[in-house]
Amino acid sequence: MAVPFIDLKRFEPDFLARWAEKCSHLTQTTQFVGGPVVGELEENLRRISGAEAVVGCANGTDALQLALRALNVGEGDLVLIPDATFWATFEAVVNVGARPITVDVDLADLQMDFDLFREAAEKYRPKAAILVHLYGWGSAKLAEFRSYCREKGIALIEDGAQAHGVVWRGESIYKGALISTVSFYPAKVLGSCGDAGAVYTNDAELAKVVRQLGNHGRTTHYGHGLVGWNSRLAGFDAGFLNLCLDYIDQRLESRRRVAALYRERFTAMNVCHVAPPADYVENGYLSVALFEPERRPAIEAKLKEKGIGFGTVYPGAMSRQPGAEQWLHARVGGEKADLLCRGVINLPLFAYMKDSEVEEVLSAFAEAIR
Ligand SMILES: Cc1ncc(COP(=O)(O)O)c(C=O)c1O
Repeated sequence: MAVPFIDLKRFEPDFLARWAEKCSHLTQTTQFVGGPVVGELEENLRRISGAEAVVGCANGTDALQLALRALNVGEGDLVLIPDATFWATFEAVVNVGARPITVDVDLADLQMDFDLFREAAEKYRPKAAILVHLYGWGSAKLAEFRSYCREKGIALIEDGAQAHGVVWRGESIYKGALISTVSFYPAKVLGSCGDAGAVYTNDAELAKVVRQLGNHGRTTHYGHGLVGWNSRLAGFDAGFLNLCLDYIDQRLESRRRVAALYRERFTAMNVCHVAPPADYVENGYLSVALFEPERRPAIEAKLKEKGIGFGTVYPGAMSRQPGAEQWLHARVGGEKADLLCRGVINLPLFAYMKDSEVEEVLSAFAEAIR
């Protein structure tokens, strides 16, 4: 039996009928751009995240750019980012005119290395930093990152594109952040029916500027107090996301169960893997198995032969991307991000995976690593 890496069609029994009803309502009330449905989503996300303000926007990359711009990060400023992340983190820095400095990862939690981060901050005095919560959890040193940046006046953005549902010290990971960004790309834990994103913050002034920047810097319909752009959230995305939120607890539970099961079996198979640090409840976004890079091609080939989908999130470190050369100000640390990128394998993991599928994946995987 073939098992895909991800299946976005596993809707709950009443989901499609409810969605059809919602589409009809949104169309009849012409809530195409904005509208009460967007406000409703922002309020739902505010309640769930515990952040004081939520501003919807067009996608997670824009969310990063909005956060950077709202923090006045621009021409010539330096921004620390992890060397292992999605390219959008790098791009966002460059797109606002700033220069990225990559910091190596800590192989214990696969997040940006805090000691190297401090070293980089002391050497380069960056204006801002982006900490990325990768794989469905966050850094074991999250508290240290936040307090160090506060103390040193470094604006810390938390890229929480993958972190919906991640719980840190009993609360949403978004709650204690100065500002965090999310993506609702369909494959995310909370995914939309198109591109969408949001910015979460506890600072009312930042929220106001983010909202203004994402709507052409408007002060009135044809009055423009800032140069922003169009990064509004569409009504259909907001409607779809509101509906998904009705089911998110069961989706998270189902993902977490499979993520934990994979880890249990990785241990039994002696496969190197990483568990979320203490203090975290993961959201089950990705499973992570780690191999020596030379072993990966043969494992990939076997999984392909067996019809098992898999990911290599992410296959290349930021500092090694051809597009980085022109913009990278510096790279701090060694080759751990590169090692991670060349050795990582992610097995299928999505809401409502059947036990039979998980077993099929694990038996193919056991054969592939033999
Ligand atoms: C860590 C990270 N940052 C940023 C993004 C960008 O989000 P989007 O694809 O919605 O622009 C993503 C999602 O793909 C991501 O995983």
